Amino acid sequence: MSDSVYPAPAGTENSIDAARAAAAWQRSVEDPDGYWREEARRLDWIEPFTQVKDSSFHEAAFRIRCFADGVLNVSANCVDRHLETRGDQSAIIWEGDQPGETKTLTYRELHRDMCRFANVLKSLGVAKGDRVTLYLPMIAEAAAAMLACTRIGAIHSIVFGGFSPDSLANRIQDCDSKLVICADEGCRGGKRIPLKANVDKAVAHCPSVEHVLVIRRTGGNVAMTEGRDIWLHEALDGVGDECAPEPMSAEDPLFILYTSGSTGKPKGVLHTTGGYLLWVTKTFSDVFDYRDGEIYWCTADIGWVTGHSYVVYGPLANGATTVMFDGVPNYPDHGRLWETIDRLGVNILYTAPTAIRALMREGDDWVTRHDRGSLRLLGTVGEPINPEAWTWYHRVVGGGRCPIVDTWWQTETGGILISPLPYATDLKPGSATKPLPGVQPQLVDAEGKVLDGAAEGNLCLTDSWPGMMRTLWGDHDRFFQTYFSTYPGKYFTGDGCRRDEDGYYWITGRVDDVINVSGHRMGTAEVESALVAHAKVAEAAVVGMPHEVKGQGIYAYVTLNSGVEPSEDLRTELRQWVRGEIGPIASPDALQFAPGLPKTRSGKIMRRILRKIAENDTGSLGDTSTLADPSVVDTLVAERVEHG
Ligand code: WT7
Repeated sequence: MSDSVYPAPAGTENSIDAARAAAAWQRSVEDPDGYWREEARRLDWIEPFTQVKDSSFHEAAFRIRCFADGVLNVSANCVDRHLETRGDQSAIIWEGDQPGETKTLTYRELHRDMCRFANVLKSLGVAKGDRVTLYLPMIAEAAAAMLACTRIGAIHSIVFGGFSPDSLANRIQDCDSKLVICADEGCRGGKRIPLKANVDKAVAHCPSVEHVLVIRRTGGNVAMTEGRDIWLHEALDGVGDECAPEPMSAEDPLFILYTSGSTGKPKGVLHTTGGYLLWVTKTFSDVFDYRDGEIYWCTADIGWVTGHSYVVYGPLANGATTVMFDGVPNYPDHGRLWETIDRLGVNILYTAPTAIRALMREGDDWVTRHDRGSLRLLGTVGEPINPEAWTWYHRVVGGGRCPIVDTWWQTETGGILISPLPYATDLKPGSATKPLPGVQPQLVDAEGKVLDGAAEGNLCLTDSWPGMMRTLWGDHDRFFQTYFSTYPGKYFTGDGCRRDEDGYYWITGRVDDVINVSGHRMGTAEVESALVAHAKVAEAAVVGMPHEVKGQGIYAYVTLNSGVEPSEDLRTELRQWVRGEIGPIASPDALQFAPGLPKTRSGKIMRRILRKIAENDTGSLGDTSTLADPSVVDTLVAERVEHG
């Protein structure tokens, strides 16, 4: 197969070139302790570590630790240590929903805001190890709140503002948060999002919550519950500008982030302090070849891991200037990203394939009428990028000048694992290319047999890296079962992958019951349980289907209770219902009323067949002879829906 290759351009003398990249990877696997000991100098340690990597993926000795006896503080690494050299440099450029609605915080200002915020947390009784849930828009205060938690050793759990009150409540209950931090409302694409009202609904079912701290964003009218709810601006009145950083063990929890799995209950992925911070610090520096003074923009929301690692922690630990965007790429028009890039002088843009595809459809003119001369590097994350979108991004957005880093990773991995280095790696559109130092991928077949050379199989990682997750909050057993039991001794990613004859990795997508909608992970089981919770629904099965913009869309098969008639109104009602239960991202793109679902004689739903029908690949449904009632398949094929 002949793929087009884009040779790596030359970087600066500090850039990692091909020879250095290869040597670093080799050293990282041959002498991991020596390698990470040196790399760890990127951070400021309060107490140096003596131990480096200490891990085993095998059940008998299962453990994942790194730098375990070292002591450090994340906020001190992200802010304090830059004050002397770059106190007056912009740390955060906030760009609001309306173009030009901006605010800049220097490192000195961020230090003051973070310390003051931390003092408010203390005054509310939040202490080391306590959990704090954040339900916020992309405002600078959100970064200050995250850093304030790390300042005092509290564990933050950020819930994306698009999640429903129910989803929020589940995530608060799972980790028993003591405090919820929200804004009055969010603003996205000219619309208001009732964050505080959602918190009120959620917290009614969360006995662990003592206080709700509310940030004024829009000034919209919100209800405040006496004794429980507190305005941040009032709480800040009279607090001090200084707060000493709490010394934290490298293995102390840093944050919890909930993500979807193949069962209905979201998983609380736990990251710890030292290994995570080193991983995002190093990968930010290496993958983006970040240069002092550059303006870096990652469009992700802090509600997802990309926002944690590459809007806040990675950039700030490197003393970079990071843009926080509180809007959407198509508001007020399809030129928003490019207009903003020119206005702010952005050098590095990191965004999702779904955004690229959506903007590509609107035509080149939206892009080319803006200069984009400041851009040096482009990145993508979250889902496979189709070569057509890749070449458009390269040719039209980057004007053919800017390398593209297609970065593969997961909430669980903490940061980027497979990615080009822009001045070392020749690019092939659609491939995340090669593993970074410390990353040892392996492809296996369904039985776990290791596949060598050019091959396609399930993607595993054979050894730990500093930034990997340490456990699932409150369920260490589920952690082991989910990731380490399918292929004993290996971490299984849930992704399918092809390795070509040059050793390049091509992620083909999830092979489990997780679908990737616009770069966001959605468990099919979660959508199914939302659907069956509706009084008129007897049974539901959800699968992914190809979607031109979202990558994958959600296709739902719904069996109604007897006596209930299918109708367009009911279809609309069910889609609204799912929005209300989980959030807009979970709303089915296609919903088919199914008189029956294809099941084996033992009652197991044959998802393989449902996927084929959703993909409109009905010519190859395979063996249906084991079905209890093969005729249901004909009905499903005949009544397949396109959209709606
Ligand atoms: C899943 C992880 C990585 C942060 C955002 C999503 C898919 C991610 C790529 C890529 C192909 C990708 C995988 C992965 N994915 N990046 N560059 N190419 N697929 O984090 O929600 O934890 O989802 O996103 O399927 O398993 P997440």
